[in-house]
Amino acid sequence: MTTTLSSAAFAISASSFAPLKAKRHGNSASFYSQNNPLSYSPLSTRPSIPRKSFWVRATVLQENEEKVVVEESFPPKTSPDDVGKGSGNEPPESSSLERWVIKAEQSVNIFLTDSAIKILDTLYHDRDYPRFFVLETIARVPYFAFMSVLHMYESFGWWRRADYMKVHFAESWNEMHHLLIMEELGGNTWWVDRFLAQHVAAVYYIMTVLMYVISPRMAYHFSECVESHAFETYDKFIKAQGEELKKSPAPEVAVKYYTGGDLYLFDEFQTARAPNSRRPKIENLYDVFLNIRDDEAEHCKTMKACQTHGNLRSPHSYAEDASEDDTA
Ligand SMILES: [Fe+2]
Ligand SMILES: [Fe+2]
Repeated sequence: MTTTLSSAAFAISASSFAPLKAKRHGNSASFYSQNNPLSYSPLSTRPSIPRKSFWVRATVLQENEEKVVVEESFPPKTSPDDVGKGSGNEPPESSSLERWVIKAEQSVNIFLTDSAIKILDTLYHDRDYPRFFVLETIARVPYFAFMSVLHMYESFGWWRRADYMKVHFAESWNEMHHLLIMEELGGNTWWVDRFLAQHVAAVYYIMTVLMYVISPRMAYHFSECVESHAFETYDKFIKAQGEELKKSPAPEVAVKYYTGGDLYLFDEFQTARAPNSRRPKIENLYDVFLNIRDDEAEHCKTMKACQTHGNLRSPHSYAEDASEDDTA
């Protein structure tokens, strides 16, 4: 069963590379692919084929990777509203079996997310900051779950993609700062909220690791659903409380994170944008929540793009490629 699901999940990889237009990124792709030409099939054992054959496969993989263009992975109109509406995560040339598997995965994810939202709505309908604290504690879990699995694959030599590790770390760094902001606002004051958030996070971590091993596409889609809910939550909040929020000061941790000196990691998680293209102004609490909401929208876009195998690159790697092209 596991093998079947895994095969179905990764079967889209070859076709998903094909329709994307060419852009040259030879250096970074080759650096991480030379010793790891295996396709993304972590549950299979490493085939005992001669080293020369590895090099042939590596060349094919690199050529395909060069066709990935980040702008095409993140159409400007990509929106959290697209979640669960057949919004095009399906590869264009997928078989009916693949489409069925994708639909089944997404249906399970949407059911799980909707159920969790109903529980949160019941427990936290009149306590905004504790709700945000719980949400942010949970929201950062998938990123270190992805990193845990990728670390394991790296150790075994099955999969080495520095861009995935960098972007997922930057995403978890961003979510950690959302959490610190909620703590500074008093969201973690009650013991029961901390108990609930931390225990749900532990269960969610185990669930995400298992899901990511079986189907990375499903795990990324589930995370997209969670991020979409976070976006909607903050969007409703700033629309309902906007005037009050404008009269309140911004937490110090938010000012430091959004306007501090080194914004490399802030740019790194926003894979739909060029580095330095977003520099928030934080003058009050409204600005803080506006930017947290916008962060969640960026997370949605990244999680959506990740559902196509091999579709993720660090935004900084595009800048590096451009400067290399200029000096060439
Ligand atoms: Fe968040
Ligand atoms: Fe998020």
